[in-house]
Amino acid sequence: MAAWFLDELEHAGRENLDPAHVARYDAKEDAGGAAEVALLKGLGLSRESVVAEFGAGTGQFTAAVAPACARVIAVDVSEPMLERLQAKVAELDLVNVEVVQAGFLSYEHAGAPADFVYSRYALHHLPDFWKAVALGRLRDMLRPGGVLRLWDVVYDFEPADAEARIEAWCATGGRGAEAEWSRAELEEHVRDEHSTFSWILEPMLVRCGFEVAVAEHSADRIFAKYLLRAT
Ligand SMILES: C[S@@+](CC[C@H](N)C(=O)[O-])C[C@H]1O[C@@H](n2cnc3c(N)ncnc32)[C@H](O)[C@@H]1O
Repeated sequence: MAAWFLDELEHAGRENLDPAHVARYDAKEDAGGAAEVALLKGLGLSRESVVAEFGAGTGQFTAAVAPACARVIAVDVSEPMLERLQAKVAELDLVNVEVVQAGFLSYEHAGAPADFVYSRYALHHLPDFWKAVALGRLRDMLRPGGVLRLWDVVYDFEPADAEARIEAWCATGGRGAEAEWSRAELEEHVRDEHSTFSWILEPMLVRCGFEVAVAEHSADRIFAKYLLRAT
């Protein structure tokens, strides 16, 4: 690999490589997998569909979508996350799930193009240059007209409002990281990870070959959910 290439594991997020965080992850974060599967069914997800998930984590979405499609490829860089995901796949006997240790920038797709690519709260681990490279790769593994469902922390405000908006978000954090997202974790997200502005990400999505069918921003302008079509 070229010396200039990003090391995805180094950018995976301290907590995602921490077995203690992984062990409590499902108790503190509900990824709403069933509702997401229902949404994708409305967009054509069927028992013939190929689905790839990036940053699959403990596999909440993977486990929800597997019974509804033909093949799921669950991709993540973190070994502790993948161990938890693999255990869940075995417990639930999900025979159509392939667990792959790789990242947005290194996964090599084989077989029929994906009908759906799914990624929730993972793309922000890449700096913006690499987000664009990753989005181009996701575009290339989708069939034309295929769907990318993307959630992330995306700052939908002007730089002048950054301090007030970020302070307000950090103030929602709790004291401990056991059962909730702590203030220290939210501060770490802003300081050490690469969430970007919507006015950078959204033109980037278009430039990388997606039509933005739906863009939803939370009331606090911190979280975004997109439905994107490969053009
Ligand atoms: C906050 S967790 C989200 C997990 C899950 N998608 C969810 O919504 O609950 C972020 C996940 O992205 C993974 N990740 C970080 N960098 C990545 C990369 N470059 N490629 C793929 N996955 C990555 C982490 O290991 C972690 O499992």
